[in-house]
Amino acid sequence: MLRLLLFSLLSYSTLGELRSSTPHWDYQRHGPDAWPHVFDACEGDAQSPIDIRTSHVKYDSHLAPLLINSYTTNNTISVWNFTHNGHTIIAYPSPLSRLSISGASLREVYYLVNVHFHWGYHPYHGSEHTIDSTKFPLEVHFVHEARSPNTYAVLSVLFTLQRHDNEQLNDLLSIVNQTINASVWIEYRFDVSRLLPTTSTKHFFLYNGSFTVPPCTEGITWIVLAKHVPISVDQLEIFSGNSVPSNFRSPQKLSSRTILADFEPEPYEVESSHGTPHSTANHAQISMFSLSIIIVSFLTNY
Ligand SMILES: *[C@@H]1O[C@H](CO)[C@@H](O)[C@H](O)[C@H]1NC(C)=O
Ligand SMILES: *[C@@H]1O[C@H](CO)[C@@H](O)[C@H](O)[C@H]1NC(C)=O
Ligand SMILES: *[C@@H]1O[C@H](CO)[C@@H](O)[C@H](O)[C@H]1NC(C)=O
Ligand SMILES: *[C@@H]1O[C@H](CO)[C@@H](O)[C@H](O)[C@H]1NC(C)=O
Ligand SMILES: *[C@@H]1O[C@H](CO)[C@@H](O)[C@H](O)[C@H]1NC(C)=O
Ligand SMILES: [Zn+2]
Repeated sequence: MLRLLLFSLLSYSTLGELRSSTPHWDYQRHGPDAWPHVFDACEGDAQSPIDIRTSHVKYDSHLAPLLINSYTTNNTISVWNFTHNGHTIIAYPSPLSRLSISGASLREVYYLVNVHFHWGYHPYHGSEHTIDSTKFPLEVHFVHEARSPNTYAVLSVLFTLQRHDNEQLNDLLSIVNQTINASVWIEYRFDVSRLLPTTSTKHFFLYNGSFTVPPCTEGITWIVLAKHVPISVDQLEIFSGNSVPSNFRSPQKLSSRTILADFEPEPYEVESSHGTPHSTANHAQISMFSLSIIIVSFLTNY
């Protein structure tokens, strides 16, 4: 009863990642496992993120290409407003920029309302979506809203590890580094196309999901790009050193949902020891390796 009352009193906003007039939640004590106790929608059957199992993905040759409109033209190297909302670093485009996406299965044009990040406290996790159980070190969400009210589509880009810095990210990272709390707003000219993979064809996975933060509103179209953006371990430290050391939700059950793609995906494999993220199995191997080092040093010392 109290829960219902709290919920109806405090949660007028269904914008999820856009407003904060909701009961307290975080990624620690009031973390993802606790959310369903306060936010009913968080235990729904169409939640995000998910593990994208490539063997389960349905190739749909009728899907239109994804159009990412004006992201890459010069007139969008416009002023962005960066802040820290207590959960993530979030940037709002200038109202005049009118960046948008269309195509895919979208029936209308969806306009960009914010860009924000999900990261972890070490480089072997941090993403919300996983592909064939592989975790990625960083994920960026481009939240878009259609003219029809409460109609959202989120474009998601996953990052992979590479040995050297991705120079294209340096100016963004220095802003991220200074965006420390909600009283800081940084207006900054930034070319957002640097957060997109450089391939001209934007192949994607598509499914119906939810916001990945309370109140976990469903009915969101998710478009996860198949190609990734590189980042180095040093660059990731700007995120892991944030006051919020990690802010990702684990994959939710797919239930009866379908994942579509505009291409035929190959099983996701870790290509080499560097330059790609590590699957859970690899991570376990690394831990076993560190454990044996600890045991060896124990034996040598005593
Ligand atoms: C953007 O502007 C710069 C400098 O004015 C120019 O060199 C570049 O070619 C332009 N790029 C596009 C995509 O128009
Ligand atoms: C950025 O946000 C602050 C605080 O809401 C506001 O005062 C400022 O005008 C915004 N700047 C731009 C360029 O939107
Ligand atoms: C991040 O901020 C810290 C403390 O202000 C500073 O020492 C460091 O050089 C900054 N790093 C980058 C890459 O901007
Ligand atoms: C934000 O950080 C600045 C600099 O450390 C500090 O002075 C200010 O009190 C902080 N504001 C909030 C709301 O935490
Ligand atoms: C998403 O839901 C809508 C409305 O129920 C449905 O028409 C569409 O086929 C679904 N999309 C996918 C990829 O399952
Ligand atoms: Zn998000």
